[in-house]
Amino acid sequence: MRNISRRHFFFRTLGAGAGSLMFPVLTSGRSSSASKGITPLIVTSHANETGRKAMEAGWQVLIEGGNAVDAVEKAANIIELDPEDTTVGYGGLPNEKGVVQLDASFMDGRTYSAGAVACLENIKTPSSVAKLVMQRTDHVLLTGAGALEFAKAWGFREENLLTEKARKIWLRWKEELSPDDDWGPPEHLKDSDRKEAYWNDFPAPEHHYGTTNVLAIDSRGDIAGCTTTSGLSFKLNGRVGDSPIIGAGLYVDNETGAAGATGRGEDVIKSCASYYIVLRMKEGRTPQQACEDALKMIAGKYKKVNPLFYPAEKFVAINRTGETGCAAMKGDRMPEMSVRTAEGFSIYTGPVVFPGK
Ligand code: GLY
Repeated sequence: MRNISRRHFFFRTLGAGAGSLMFPVLTSGRSSSASKGITPLIVTSHANETGRKAMEAGWQVLIEGGNAVDAVEKAANIIELDPEDTTVGYGGLPNEKGVVQLDASFMDGRTYSAGAVACLENIKTPSSVAKLVMQRTDHVLLTGAGALEFAKAWGFREENLLTEKARKIWLRWKEELSPDDDWGPPEHLKDSDRKEAYWNDFPAPEHHYGTTNVLAIDSRGDIAGCTTTSGLSFKLNGRVGDSPIIGAGLYVDNETGAAGATGRGEDVIKSCASYYIVLRMKEGRTPQQACEDALKMIAGKYKKVNPLFYPAEKFVAINRTGETGCAAMKGDRMPEMSVRTAEGFSIYTGPVVFPGK
């Protein structure tokens, strides 16, 4: 109780001073963007049909004069609620115990506020919970049971997040995990004409990191971003990836731009990759160059440790003048990003920085 009163006292006493300090900054941020003719923009690292729908919904918020935070949330929710998507929100692949644990972060460049949740269970839209942590608490990161308690207090309904599709992929992973356990059909069927008991027609599961980033600039030039994920599939119970770590999976700076990461979260955390990308943009690099810089920086860290190691990463970025960037560390496919501007919807394709790795 004493803490609450102290906090209120803190805000009340600082209120006038902070307000008078903050207002000119925010106002100048807006007018400078307007004078540079910034038009709204929203992007997501999801380049599928759901990503396109998400961009149209977020764009609608922006053209109706809504702010970047609300546009980002609207778009992120659409991706989170897609049951077919096994990388984000509802339908995401579970951890090793078969439990879906979601991570998400939100950042509002206008107010320099951030919020995040980690290992959140039973809530379909973790980005919205992260947004509330950002807007309605003085904290940045809530985890596990505490995050769920907070979400429920705000009226979020607990729901089963494990779809049939995700559960079957998890069971297949269980069966293939080890030749020494008893998951899977009876051994005597393996080479018999009852081989269909084995999941031959079901693709062997691979670990994936999934994740989506949504970044936006509104008509006032304010920038916001969100990263949301079900994280590494079959991860250890309680594992937290980069997505809810501000500076790792997401970073937003109203004066510069925003960046988000997907891929092997452990490397993104160690390299503070999103912060690094924004820092590079502040130093004058374009979003495209900054994304590539970050991938090279991470690869460089392994040069002396294991020069053959190139973690699977994909970065996306925007700057406050509306330029975009996207790059991947390795892989056969060029990385893509969905972009919605006043000119319409488009897919931006970036380079693979270390092809053949
Ligand atoms: N990038 C998502 C994760 O590692 O959990």
